[in-house]
Amino acid sequence: MTPEQKRLVRHTWDQVAPMAEAAADMFYRRLFEIDPDTRQLFRATEMVAQRKKLLQTLSFAINGLDDLDGLASKVEDLGRRHAGYGVTDAHYDSVGAALVWTLEQGLGHAWTPAVASAWTEVYAMLSGIMRTAAARAEVAPAKRVALRQVRPM
Ligand code: HEM
Repeated sequence: MTPEQKRLVRHTWDQVAPMAEAAADMFYRRLFEIDPDTRQLFRATEMVAQRKKLLQTLSFAINGLDDLDGLASKVEDLGRRHAGYGVTDAHYDSVGAALVWTLEQGLGHAWTPAVASAWTEVYAMLSGIMRTAAARAEVAPAKRVALRQVRPM
């Protein structure tokens, strides 16, 4: 991400902040509309609390854009937990689409092509770290079994 993209993400996030709760509500409605399968992942979830957690995490990530190394290990942990919630690669694409749609609705005229690509980039970065950590966690136990099998007795 370029410094200008980081600036655009921070600036537009500040614009969304006053309507964050409503935006989070719109986001989940949109997600369940475009990918109804995701609804069952949240079947036992308290959605008011979930909206807060999502917003807090996004704020945390956006504030941490200048210290990506410091951010990475927390985002990796988040990705591993998401694998446990049953989240797949395809779900990440749906969440990205719902997020971009929500920001577009919320920002109106401020949603320019440069803002769109900055947000797409930030989501690709976060979801990329989460997906990679989840995929590594999945192969790790299988690798351990394979290593045990080839080790001489
Ligand atoms: C950048 C992407 C994402 C961020 C920042 C994010 C953030 C969070 C946070 C902060 C929580 C609270 C629990 C925890 O910290 O482990 C959570 C829970 C959850 N997320 Fe995400 N998430 C993302 C992507 C996704 C995707 C792609 C899905 C799939 C539809 C998803 C589904 C869930 C579910 C099912 C829970 C568990 C709710 C529960 O506790 O019952 N998330 N997410």
